[in-house]
Amino acid sequence: METGSNEKERAFWNGAGGETWVRSQAQLDAMLAPLLDALLDGAALTAGERVLDLGCGCGASSLGAAAQGARVLGLDFSAPMIAQAQARASAAALPARFLCADATEATFPEPFDALISRFGGMFFAEPVLAYAHLRSALVSGGRLCMLVWQAPKHNPWMSVVGQAVAPFLPKGDGPAPDPRTPGPFAFAGAGYVTSVLEEAGWTDVGLTSVKRDLHLADSMEEALSLQSQVGPLARVLRELEAGPREQALSAAREALAPHFTEHGLHLGAACHLVSARAA
Ligand SMILES: C[S@@+](CC[C@H](N)C(=O)[O-])C[C@H]1O[C@@H](n2cnc3c(N)ncnc32)[C@H](O)[C@@H]1O
Repeated sequence: METGSNEKERAFWNGAGGETWVRSQAQLDAMLAPLLDALLDGAALTAGERVLDLGCGCGASSLGAAAQGARVLGLDFSAPMIAQAQARASAAALPARFLCADATEATFPEPFDALISRFGGMFFAEPVLAYAHLRSALVSGGRLCMLVWQAPKHNPWMSVVGQAVAPFLPKGDGPAPDPRTPGPFAFAGAGYVTSVLEEAGWTDVGLTSVKRDLHLADSMEEALSLQSQVGPLARVLRELEAGPREQALSAAREALAPHFTEHGLHLGAACHLVSARAA
């Protein structure tokens, strides 16, 4: 299959994106912990099961599955993130293994009983081909359980700042981008992710809505530091000159302030927990 089409994503996750996730790994994992729990509850792994962790990044879900006794292979095409995952597994003496390869063409040492993913499956230029390839890596009847984001408007942890800084971004001239474009929200549409998996030969596709309050930070500085690394504010900071950048930061600060309580900053997140079986 033609994997050159994933080149933009591969470059991002081996460059600025990967560096950011490695740098912010502890903060991101703490914030996303309630969603990892939902993923592992949904996957209901049993000891000894062979599990493929798609787009494992710095390894949080691989380590979580390995701690439950699963035999995990974490798969990702980001070299810096895989290196971080490997180092964490070694430090924790967990037997997870890792493979740095594009999921659309990776070859695997053995078939898997289950595929899990925490937000690692929405970045394919040709998702039907990718999920057909991944299906063929599972035993017949093997199960898929992955978390994908619902639309930004259901994710205030990102959209509160996103709306505040949107006016500072240059307006595009062309039509609005296709919401299915590879990226964090590509599978926000329940009908779309279902059709991709069905076309790729998966059966029993089901989606469950998972909503959690995420603890983003204890202080405004911490909140802005995280949002400056990932999400819409990060983009603004990359693209703007110093003057408007400061204005955008102030707008983000103002938008977040009312959401702080004595317990810090909590904002809502909404995902689909997608399940399916390899035919
Ligand atoms: C949003 S990050 C999530 C990382 C990790 N699952 C987590 O929750 O911390 C998306 C991950 O998917 C990986 N990814 C995207 N497209 C991929 C592909 N075609 N093959 C392998 N990995 C891919 C990226 O490198 C990145 O690590």
